[in-house]
Amino acid sequence: MAITLREITEDNFYQCIDLEVTNEQKNFVAPNVYSIAESKIYPEATIKAIYKDEEIVGFMMFGRNNEKDDTSPWLIRFMIDQRYQGKGYGKAAMNKVLDLMTSKYPNETLCLSTDPDNINAIAFYETFGFENTGLIQHDELVFKKG
Ligand SMILES: CC(C)(COP(=O)(O)OP(=O)(O)OC[C@H]1O[C@@H](n2cnc3c(N)ncnc32)[C@H](O)[C@@H]1OP(=O)(O)O)[C@@H](O)C(=O)NCCC(=O)NCCS
Repeated sequence: MAITLREITEDNFYQCIDLEVTNEQKNFVAPNVYSIAESKIYPEATIKAIYKDEEIVGFMMFGRNNEKDDTSPWLIRFMIDQRYQGKGYGKAAMNKVLDLMTSKYPNETLCLSTDPDNINAIAFYETFGFENTGLIQHDELVFKKG
């Protein structure tokens, strides 16, 4: 399966902001248009579209936290469109995302947070070695790897 991470350009911007999660998942991840707007304000952030072959199937954003006491690299958004979930694309994409984060932030602890009710995402991230710290930040459970 060919999963790739690609730049978001004028050629795929509208397709990228049309990607959607299920209604039940909408509380768990911001709309892509919101994340792309944030990435303009925080230029250190990396955003990529997730492709299965030539089909856009998801979106991710990562970057350094800019809080005073925490400048760790965070996976900030990760989503697979509802039409493409459960096909192994998320898992394949996450491996690419971790490769990219590790090459950009070698030897650093990677962080992410999820809604405590997002049990599928929690199980998903734990399979990649993210450990539940038990800490809650901005109402989300914090996970760390490495
Ligand atoms: C979490 C998410 C990225 C997983 O992507 P995906 O493409 O559906 O995942 P995959 O098909 O690669 O499955 C990966 C594993 O998760 C499990 N999984 C995925 N979705 C699941 C679901 N709805 N219920 C149960 N298990 C699920 C799969 O069984 C698989 O496990 P396995 O390898 O042991 O078989 C996707 O569900 C999503 O975009 N959710 C909404 C956004 C979100 O919550 N993002 C995280 C915010 S922090």
